[in-house]
Amino acid sequence: MYEHDVLVVGAGGAGLRAAIAAHEEGADVALVSKLHPVRSHTGAAEGGINAALHPEDSWELHAYDTIKGSDYLGDAPAVETFAQDAPEEVVQLEHWGMPFSREEDGRVSQRPFGGLSHPRTTYAGAETGHHLLHTMYDQVVKRGIEVYEEWHVLDLAVTDHDDVADRECHGVVAYDIASGEVEGFRAADGVILATGGPGQVYDHTTNAVANTGDGYAMAYRAGVPLEDMEFVQFHPTTLPSTGVLISEGVRGEGGILYNDEEERFMFEHGYANNEGELASRDVVSRAELTEVNEGRGIEDEYVHLDMRHLGEERILDRLENILHLAEDFEGVDGLEEPMPVKPGQHYQMGGVEVDENGQTCVDGLYAAGETACVSLHGANRLGGNALPELLVYGARAGKHAAGGDMKDPEIETGPGAKSEDGNLDAADLVGAVGGSDQSAVADGAAVEPRSVVDATVERARERVERLLEAEGINHAHVRDDIQETMTANVNVFRREESLREALSDLREARERYQHVAVSDPSRTYNTDLIHTIETRNVLDVAEAITVGALAREEFRGAHWREQYQYRDDENWLKHTMLTWSAGSPELYFKPVVLDGEDKTYEPKERSY
Ligand code: FUM
Repeated sequence: MYEHDVLVVGAGGAGLRAAIAAHEEGADVALVSKLHPVRSHTGAAEGGINAALHPEDSWELHAYDTIKGSDYLGDAPAVETFAQDAPEEVVQLEHWGMPFSREEDGRVSQRPFGGLSHPRTTYAGAETGHHLLHTMYDQVVKRGIEVYEEWHVLDLAVTDHDDVADRECHGVVAYDIASGEVEGFRAADGVILATGGPGQVYDHTTNAVANTGDGYAMAYRAGVPLEDMEFVQFHPTTLPSTGVLISEGVRGEGGILYNDEEERFMFEHGYANNEGELASRDVVSRAELTEVNEGRGIEDEYVHLDMRHLGEERILDRLENILHLAEDFEGVDGLEEPMPVKPGQHYQMGGVEVDENGQTCVDGLYAAGETACVSLHGANRLGGNALPELLVYGARAGKHAAGGDMKDPEIETGPGAKSEDGNLDAADLVGAVGGSDQSAVADGAAVEPRSVVDATVERARERVERLLEAEGINHAHVRDDIQETMTANVNVFRREESLREALSDLREARERYQHVAVSDPSRTYNTDLIHTIETRNVLDVAEAITVGALAREEFRGAHWREQYQYRDDENWLKHTMLTWSAGSPELYFKPVVLDGEDKTYEPKERSY
């Protein structure tokens, strides 16, 4: 068994930042990641990092824009903490050597992004995530932080108390991709889940193949509530054939969207009369699909994003990477032609319920970055708010897990935060998590930390052996079906019949998952086995998204419902919670907190 004070699962931006913070508190910290750190999906982030740095900007304006962008579902303490801490995190990055794009006078440049009242997005060309990842990995290496790379974490080692609030997390169990061994990792002080998003739930996504929602599914199996999972962000500008992201930075620099009739539809069809292309993402994605659905799309599928008028010099200076992506993945020269774009799954606003210190309701278990829901983004995330989130909340989780002195959180988590029962019987709609494996919690009487880890290792070894020895179907058939139904039925526009159809398809997929088997018998680099294990996580997350989408009977942010065409603050100013408790899924609600430090954010009509 490996032993450390703090274990961070995932070595993307949130994981690296958490590990650095825990190390600064004096903890013996290790990162465990199924990828080499610099292959993490943070590296694909293009546009930038929002922070109120300019003297005419302020954290208060950043907080206000974020709450408005969230369609009033963000929790004010989470949003204000974020907006206050973000500038310091950006300055810290700069001191660590992040190669930010700069103005002539040497100041870090800031560009406009959707939904921002001030140009506040710092960036490094259109490869901000790549540079951020390398800058922080340098710091990890410099500090000698241990990295277990290409170790796929299978489950959390959690005590099996009936009441989730009594449970404790003592470590994780991981599969060494290089050797095929399953080993336990004990964490004396805390485990931080930073495994990124679940884009593989959909077939048209900007996310990497590795984004299979592992952290959400592991926490859910351990009894931690998933919050607001129905809020999935569809980015307006992805390449139609691959889902590769074309940064919002293009529109931030002045790029224009046109339909097949060469109309600048964001203005000409009145979708966003003030901000046009720089309205928030939910608004722009719906506008594009409405154009396509009403017959003004190009090839009935996409619209055009034109940046030619920006000129070669500016494009090469600020958006060079975009030229390469358009050329390599779509065969289009962005200097000479407009680029085809359509909405694609990009980001999960909901996630593992945590407070402002990254803590879940299970003692010793934390989450940060896209995996977590604090709730900062509410019903819609603003572009450029994901990278500062992973810095701010990665640092807070790492510091707290390592015993750093921090203010008590204001956001309540766990069953005690419940204000209302759910409007649907989740047990009728979603299957048993983990299929026949049921749950992640240690069996029987294990409570002593090492016994909890050992019991979880034993079960994981049995599972791996079972998968390797069984005869059955390949996981890809199940995963394809999940992606197909989610893309068809739980997309930008959502209808009750389609959501129910998706749940029925997912239930069938879950039944078929009971019969998956791994055809590759190898013990080393067995990607068939890894993808089979990941597919169970994809399934759990797909169900959580869909049941949340069916439960929420209103139109808020990224969640559009055909039957409910307005935001219903009277009945729906609340978070959707899905938890696995006493062998059954439970849906319930908890209130949104709109009281900030010095003001209450009164919900207003949201227009751009
Ligand atoms: O469009 C982009 O560059 C993406 C930024 C983000 O998701 O924050």
